[in-house]
Amino acid sequence: MTTASESDQLTRVGPGTVMGRLMREYWIPALLSSEIVRGGAPLRLMLLGEKLIAFRDSTGRVGVMDHRCPHRCASLFLGRNEDGGLRCIYHGWKFDVTGRCLDMPNVQPQQDFKHKVSAKAYRSIERAGLVWVYMGARAEPPPLPGFEILDVPDDEVGALFIQRNCNYLQALEGDIDTSHFGFLHAGHVEADELDNKDPIYHTVAIRAPEYHIADAAWGTSYAGHRSAGAGRTSWRVGNFMFPFWTQVPNGELSQHVQVRGWVPLDDEHTMYCVLWWKRGASAMNQGDPTYKDGTPIAGMGRRNDFLPNTTDWLGRWRLAANASNDWGINRAAQRDDAIYSGIDSIHLQDQAVTESMGAILDHTFEHLSPSDQMITRTRRRLLMAARALCDNGVPPPGAENVEVFRDARGGYFVSDASEWQAAYAAQLAAASRPPAAGLRTAK
Ligand code: FES
Ligand SMILES: [Fe+2]
Repeated sequence: MTTASESDQLTRVGPGTVMGRLMREYWIPALLSSEIVRGGAPLRLMLLGEKLIAFRDSTGRVGVMDHRCPHRCASLFLGRNEDGGLRCIYHGWKFDVTGRCLDMPNVQPQQDFKHKVSAKAYRSIERAGLVWVYMGARAEPPPLPGFEILDVPDDEVGALFIQRNCNYLQALEGDIDTSHFGFLHAGHVEADELDNKDPIYHTVAIRAPEYHIADAAWGTSYAGHRSAGAGRTSWRVGNFMFPFWTQVPNGELSQHVQVRGWVPLDDEHTMYCVLWWKRGASAMNQGDPTYKDGTPIAGMGRRNDFLPNTTDWLGRWRLAANASNDWGINRAAQRDDAIYSGIDSIHLQDQAVTESMGAILDHTFEHLSPSDQMITRTRRRLLMAARALCDNGVPPPGAENVEVFRDARGGYFVSDASEWQAAYAAQLAAASRPPAAGLRTAK
């Protein structure tokens, strides 16, 4: 079980916390590049409990910094995006994207100390259609993580953000909790209604899978497995990758290049950030699931209805269905087994159950079962790494050695092999690899 103090360490991400320090060792996806335009209005951005702004200056460079002006702390969100920097509207001090103070016009020239003051700015880099931010203490930031998806040319990468109103950990754990699929998403689907090649077939034919769990260089891995008849095994493989990434089996492993980030905005809000290869096997590239007669399976669509973005700290990429309207649950559909959960769309089903736990779930109330070994193992791995960093300065996995992420894949497959790591290795050896763009080095 997870104790109250372990829970506290795992879930708190602000400056000075154990997990907050761990997360600041890595590059963090912060916004879509398209959210800020050259010379346009700054964007309010909450990240790891810090109130930041992001803007794109007149030359196209991106700045990410504490929203408070270092003079008297007026918000730079209100600032004027001028030639080569952002000017505070209170007394006119102006800062470039690195935080350097360029102008201090309310002070007489002989008293000017602009070379001694700077806004608190973080390094940023653009890749895969996102702005990534490094919030750590290293003078030289590490390279971007060695994900396969970051080898893909930007125009072949799909990217989607959705805010979730709960702590990052419970949101992330939905991705490594494979047995929920046959209930939350597909409890109303019977195997004989599906083609036996359908990836959902084995999930609903045997709803209580067996598991292998292991530590991996990048974090942790699991394989949910089921008999697929005649000596064959159905595998669903997924990963947790430091510090908040997952890979899930929603595509055929040999062609599935993706990562899913659960980026903490603060302790009670998370930005889901998924990147996938548009030429790969991701479910994001496919139509909605159907029965073998071609009829769509109710409740398993992938449509997401968003509220308009606002300028609030937590006003970006919110779904219209949320706790205030019970995530649109349809009790008649639930009662009639038209949709097991009564909630329409796979993402919203996950959103509903994890948000329903409370902003930060009380881990002392849980009763984890053998089906939760991956969750237990992952919490331990995170805690041990965070403590080793805080107590002994040990860099956490993948912070420096970013190549450990390169061979991580999630996906499903059916094979003759009964030993999962051999089966995984065989799949990987035969896998389609995206073309390497070789652009990972940070500025
Ligand atoms: S508070 Fe920003 S210039 Fe004075
Ligand atoms: Fe799910």
